[in-house]
Order: sequence, then structure tokens, then C-alpha cells
Amino acid sequence: MKGAKPAKPPIPGNERKLDAVLKEVIESIRPSKEEIARVTAHSNDLMSRLKKAAPKDVEIVAVGSGARGTQIKGSSDVDIFLLFPKKLSEAVMEKKGMAIAKKVVSKKKHESFLIKYAEHPYVQIISNEVGIKADIVPAFKINKAEERITAVDRSQLHNKFMNEKLSSRQKDDVRLLKAFLKFHGIQGADAKTEGFSGYLCELLVYQYGSFVNVLKKALSMKLPIVIDPMHKSEDSGGTPKVLSMTRKFSKNFVVIDATDENRNVAAAVSAESLARFALVSRVLYERPSKDFFFGAKYSDAYSERELANIRKTLGLDIYLVHFKVPEVAEDILWQQLRRLMHRLEGDLNKYGFGVVMALENIEKNDTIMAFLISESFVKHTLAEGPSAFMGKSVDKFLDAHKDSLGILFKDDRIMSIEKAKYEKPSDLIMAVLDDTGNIPSYLGKKKAKLHVNKIPEPLAKLLYAAFIRKTVL
Ligand code: CTP
Ligand code: MG
Repeated sequence: MKGAKPAKPPIPGNERKLDAVLKEVIESIRPSKEEIARVTAHSNDLMSRLKKAAPKDVEIVAVGSGARGTQIKGSSDVDIFLLFPKKLSEAVMEKKGMAIAKKVVSKKKHESFLIKYAEHPYVQIISNEVGIKADIVPAFKINKAEERITAVDRSQLHNKFMNEKLSSRQKDDVRLLKAFLKFHGIQGADAKTEGFSGYLCELLVYQYGSFVNVLKKALSMKLPIVIDPMHKSEDSGGTPKVLSMTRKFSKNFVVIDATDENRNVAAAVSAESLARFALVSRVLYERPSKDFFFGAKYSDAYSERELANIRKTLGLDIYLVHFKVPEVAEDILWQQLRRLMHRLEGDLNKYGFGVVMALENIEKNDTIMAFLISESFVKHTLAEGPSAFMGKSVDKFLDAHKDSLGILFKDDRIMSIEKAKYEKPSDLIMAVLDDTGNIPSYLGKKKAKLHVNKIPEPLAKLLYAAFIRKTVL
């Protein structure tokens, strides 16, 4: 019709359903007024005690999800920063900050504390009376990122930015995003999770406006992509910005910190976590259900039996290596474990044992990695050589395979049948663990014990939990 406005496209049915699901979910993940009041009162109490204990030129501020209203029900922890003037040295700032924090811990209020380490130390005050943990973090007072000295100095800027930019509806959308990612095991920037920090969730909601829009972006995203919330811009494909940023950060998924253009807030997000994000977003969008936020809790009461079932159904053998480890920083252990596991997985595949799934887990002193293997006995392997028409290379190949059990062809390529170097996965696993120079410090052969198929119950629990984490949808 001439002059008529183009009609708005109708909202698809699944989006209407999604909207209803989200309305229900938010009510159960937003902290109650009572919870917020209780945590705020505790935070204010700690802040006034810190103010009294600190010199006048130290500023005390509440940051983190509690101060921005993006926290999830029941996880309302307190983050308080002690901001020191930049004239102090880092060491002095740290020492003074720690002393002030420790000084306010009150026995009368049944409080205790722990010294924790991020990039530099901080104090966690645990209040048993109110059941709240508060991180007290010393940092420098800054106004923009260029002035920053320590990595945690940025948090005060994040706080200011988000408090100015997010509407209360968007804060609820951040809660939805955090809860959704948490259920799928990818919320958090720690080494175990390799996922999305709370601040990254906030930036994504700010950039795309709502939870639903973030979901739509995730399911249709093309890599490489550079998201720049500071300028509310997004680039993908081969644009100059994408080329320079992906090179700068060595990542194909970059979200530039809105307060610091030299930081990729998504640096911790692994390829697998990002892929999982895309997949679970697609499923939630297409088939909205609150089961994608809560789902049935799995029971680990019968892990041994469950594993036996999985083994039988899939026709696989389980090779599990158990390490007894000292209590060290979890992040370091997770990094070591993954590195060794990927190496073993690669070697197992290379020598003909088909690894269907590699799983890992850590709990206190127990670290496990397990390989679910489809081929557990390999007598021979095939080595692939050059084309028969490649002259010198052919000589080289024949020379290197003098002990060949037979030469055959794959089209024009020469193949050699070899006696397998390792007949069983256990031979290979033990040989690799024995490679003293190349094994991460906490995971040597001396601390390792191999279990094949029969997995004792406490380890079966750890393995089953890892299986659920890897496969849940
Ligand atoms: N922070 C960050 N990057 C991280 C971890 C923390 O930038 N990988 C900064 C953010 O400014 C964050 C603050 O430190 O808001 C506090 O960290 P944390 O308590 O881990 O995150 P929250 O945003 O408070 O989220 P949560 O609800 O999980 O506590
Ligand atoms: Mg927090």
C-alpha cells in the first residue's frame, strides 16, 4: 500500500514463550529485599569499621555484583576495596591494606579471616553470624585505566561504568545471563571454568541491550569477532579492527574492557566454553524452558553404577589416572591437569587408541583424568609415507621403516605396517608419565595410580561429575 508504514515483523512464538520463561526464572534468582538489606547492612558495617581503621586519604568503596545489583540470590558476597593514593609503593600499599583489613576482624561478631591471592593478596572476612564472605582488597585510587598500577585497580572503574549504564531491567538480565551460564558450567573466569566473568556478562547485556539479544547474538555469532562496548561497536570478519585486535589479544573472541582498551575481558573464555555458549543459547531460544536454568539435579549417589552403564552403552573402556596432590592454588592445578590431559589424549589417538572423551576433575587432594577409549588393543599401526613418485622421500621413508611388516598403498601413497609401539593404552600412559622432564610438577608418575574400568567409588563420583559437566544440555 502506498504511504503505509511497513508492518513490524511479528514476535515469533518461541520468543513470546521465552519471555514468559524468563519472567518466571528471574523471580527465583533475584535476591529478596530481605537478603539485599541483610547483605547491605553487613557491607555498611564493615565499611564503617574499615573507615575508622584506615588513614583519611584511603577511600573505602563497595564494588562487585553486590554494589551494582547484578548478584544472584544466595551468592551475595561482599567486595570492598581500600583505595590508596598512588604516591605509595605497591608493597607498602599492600602491607597497609592487609593490616587494616585484619584489624577490623571481630571475634565478638564471630568473624574469622583468610589471606587469599589473586594477582596480589587480599583478606577475606568470613562472618559466621550473618553467613557472608567479604573480600577486602587493597588497590590504588585511579580515575582512568592508564593510571593503573595493579590489575585489580580496574574494578573501581568497572563499578562506575556499570552503575551509570545499566538500567534495573538490564541488571535482571545480567542475573539471567549469569544463572544461565552457571547452569551450563561456563560462568566464571577461573582456570577450571574457563568461562564468562560477571563483568563480561554485564558488558554483553550492556552492548546488546537485553538477555534475549545476547542469546540471539550468541547463536548466530561468526568468528572472529571484536565487541567494543566502550564505543558500542562490533566488528567481525576480516576488517582491519578485527585483524589488529585478534592479533593483539591472540584470540578470535574479543570483548574490549569498556574502561581499558588494552584488556580483553573475554581472555579466559576457552574455545569450548564459547562453543557451548553458542549451542545452549540456540537450544534455549528454540525450545524455551526453565529446565535450561535449573534442570534436574543429577545424583552422584550411584556413580559407580552409572559409569558402568555408560561404559556398556557406549562400548568403551575407561582408563583413569588418579594423582594425590598437595593443596596448592587450584588454578595452577587445573592448568597443569588440562595440559597433561591434552597431551595424553593426542598421544593415545596418534598410536591408534580412539579417545571418545577425555575428562578431568579436582577435589582437594584428589586429581583425576580419564580417557574413554573405543580401541583398547592395538597390535599394528599404519605409517603413512610419501607418494611412490617422490624419489628421495621414498628412499628416506623406506630407510626409516626398515622393520616394516609390509608395505602397501593408499592410492599412490606408500603405507607401512608397523608393530605397535604400545599395545595397550596403559603402556602408553605410563610411558608418558615417566617422561620426567616434561610432566607438570604436581602430576608425576610417583603420585599416579591407574585404574582400568573398575573405578573405586570416591573417584567414580569425581569422574561422573566431570562427565555430567561435559555433556549436560
Ligand atoms: N573482576 C574482573 N575480572 C575477573 C574477576 C573480577 O574484572 N576475572 C573485577 C570486576 O570488576 C568484578 C570485581 O572484580 O566486578 C569483583 O569480582 P567478583 O566478585 O569475582 O565478580 P562479581 O562481578 O562481583 O560477580 P559475582 O556475582 O560472581 O561475585
Ligand atoms: Mg563478587
